[in-house]
Amino acid sequence: MTEDLVLFDVRNAIATITINRQDKYNALNLSVKKTLLAMFKQAEEDPSIRVVVITGAGEKAFISGSDITDFVGRDSKTIRSVVGPSRDIAEYMTSMTKPIIAAVNGYALGGGCELALVCDIRYASINARFGLPEIHLGTIPGNGGTVRLPRLVGLGIAKELILTGGRIDAEEALRIGLVNKVFNSQDELREGVLELARKLCKMPGVALGLAKQSIQKAWQLPLNEHLAFELKAFCQTFDTEDKEEGLAAFLEKRKPEFKHK
Ligand code: COA
Repeated sequence: MTEDLVLFDVRNAIATITINRQDKYNALNLSVKKTLLAMFKQAEEDPSIRVVVITGAGEKAFISGSDITDFVGRDSKTIRSVVGPSRDIAEYMTSMTKPIIAAVNGYALGGGCELALVCDIRYASINARFGLPEIHLGTIPGNGGTVRLPRLVGLGIAKELILTGGRIDAEEALRIGLVNKVFNSQDELREGVLELARKLCKMPGVALGLAKQSIQKAWQLPLNEHLAFELKAFCQTFDTEDKEEGLAAFLEKRKPEFKHK
């Protein structure tokens, strides 16, 4: 039963995780959060998987947020058991070496928008709607929204979105840099995401993971330490077979065939 609330499908090295709670616009309750974390772990640990896609079932919602009914009757102490699992998912996602693509196919609100913000690349269909509406509930984003949104779109726009709890459409999300691409239909979104995932699958896995982690460090380290991390990661790629293959392929004027080691 719980399993069915989140679907896990692996094809050609691409794992697709689908939140499947359509009657609640794919809101994240505690069961969904628990399963979702387990599935991200499964995707990271399975060496046959190279790329992860997360999306929502149906045509209406990516994720409408944390399940609001889980908020009812909580105080500053007891709410932690609701937000804690969301935090665990975000923290695990940022630690993953495999790229995560958000295929935003409808409402991405509150915790859903925050989850999309944790992903590495965001593609959306034209009917996607984004927002952090927590202010309307008398609260604020609790899973990184006030941290990640300003870094992605700038302080001014983030403040307007968070303080008004307003919603924006896909075109506006593209304009402010919240998403990388917008597609005219859900089918086109699916195809666009697959094309990107296939492209990423062909990249050298070790270098891909190190590039992702090095970019991530910008959020955690002072500039000099971040530069040192990048240097170490760069040097580390020179111990991989893929680096040999990449250089040889260039010199032999052919496409590289990476083995992800
Ligand atoms: N948590 C719990 N249930 C949710 C939900 C959420 N975040 N978002 C939607 N639902 C439920 C609704 O309660 C409703 O359930 P019901 O049919 O049992 O009454 C069902 O999903 C459909 O939602 P509804 O509001 O009837 O659809 P709509 O098309 O009029 O509006 C939304 C869709 C997403 C705009 C609206 O549901 C909404 O604003 N949801 C809350 C978004 C939010 O504040 N997220 C942040 C939470 S931290």
